[in-house]
Amino acid sequence: MARFRPAVDQLEAYVPGEQPPGDADIVKLNTNENPYPPSPRALAALAGVGAERLRRYPHPLADTFRQSAADVLGVEPDWILAGNGSDDLLTMLFRAVTGAGRPVAYPAPTYVLYRTLAAIQGAPVVEVPFDEEYMLPVAALAAAGAALTLVANPNSPSGTAATPDQLASLADRTTGVLAVDEAYVAFAGASALDLVRRHGHVIVLRTLSKSHGLAGLRLGYGIAHPDLLSGLSRVKDSYNVDAVAAAVGAAAIRDVAYTRETVERIRATRTRLGEALAARGFRVWPSEANFVLARPADGNARRIYEDLKRRGVLVRYFAEPGLADKLRITVGTEEQTTRLLSCLAELMP
Ligand SMILES: Cc1ncc(COP(=O)(O)O)c(C=O)c1O
Repeated sequence: MARFRPAVDQLEAYVPGEQPPGDADIVKLNTNENPYPPSPRALAALAGVGAERLRRYPHPLADTFRQSAADVLGVEPDWILAGNGSDDLLTMLFRAVTGAGRPVAYPAPTYVLYRTLAAIQGAPVVEVPFDEEYMLPVAALAAAGAALTLVANPNSPSGTAATPDQLASLADRTTGVLAVDEAYVAFAGASALDLVRRHGHVIVLRTLSKSHGLAGLRLGYGIAHPDLLSGLSRVKDSYNVDAVAAAVGAAAIRDVAYTRETVERIRATRTRLGEALAARGFRVWPSEANFVLARPADGNARRIYEDLKRRGVLVRYFAEPGLADKLRITVGTEEQTTRLLSCLAELMP
C-alpha cells in the first residue's frame, strides 16, 4: 500500500515567505508582519506566566482570551472560537466543511493556503479570477454554489478590499459557509462583522499576527453564530491554543489604544510608500492592508526582488501567473521604508 493518501502524494506544500535569522541586518518586508513590537501590556502578561500555568493543560477554548475578545468586540463569548493563528481556524473550516463532492470557492489570486487546505481534503476547487482591479466577483462566486466560500478582505496579495455591500450581497446569495478572512482588517476602512449577526452561515476570521504584532505567538479567532462554531470545535485539536498565547493575547486585544496608534502609523507609512512607488513609475493598487502590491513599469519584478535582496531588503515575489510582474511589499517602519526607497533609487536611477 502507498505510504500516503494520493491527495498528500500530489500535494504542493504551502511555502511561507523566507524567515532569515532574527539577528540578520535585513529589512524584512516579505511576510506582512507588524514592524512595531506588541503592546507593553502583552509583554507584561508574558512575564507574568508562571510555572503553575505551564504545568497545567490550558483551557480547551482559551477562555481568558475568548472573554477579552468578546468584551472588545461587544459579542457574547460563545460567538468566538480561538485558534493557533487564523490558519488553525482555516484548517478547522476545511476539515469540517469540505471534502470530495463538497467544493471550495474563492477569488484568485489570494492567500495560497486555501488551495493547499482544499487539496489536503481532496475537495474540488473553483478559483474565480479577479479582474485587473481586483473587484470581488460576487456573481461568479455565488454561482459556484460551494460548500465553503472564502474571501480574504482585504485580499492578499492585492491589498484591495471589497465593499460591505458586495460582501452583504455575497452573503445573501450563498448557502454554504462563507468565511470572510479579515487578517488585515485593522488597516482597512470597514469590517464584515455585522454580517455574522444576520447570517448563521457567515464566519469572520481575525488574527493578532498583523495588527497586534504577535505573529510569533500564533493566535487567531473566528466570530460566528455558536452553532457554526460548535461544528468547528468538534474537529479542532483539544488544546489548540496554549496557555501563554491565551494570556498574552487577552492582554494584547484589550490594549485597544496601543493597537490603534501603531495601526495609524502603518497607515501613514503606507500612504508615503504608495506615493513614492508611483513616483518611480510603479502601478500601485489601492491598499487597505499593511502591504502594497506594486508593478514596475517594465514588469521585471523578479529582477528588482533579487537586487533588493542583495542589498538586504526582502520583499515578496510570487512566480505565479498574474503575479510574476508584481511585488508585494510589507509596510515597515519609516526608517525601513526610507532604506527600501533609497535602494530602489539606486536600482532605478
Ligand atoms: C489572508 C490571510 N489569512 C490568514 C493568514 C494567517 O494568519 P495567522 O498568522 O493568524 O495564521 C494570513 C497570513 O499571512 C493571511 O495573509
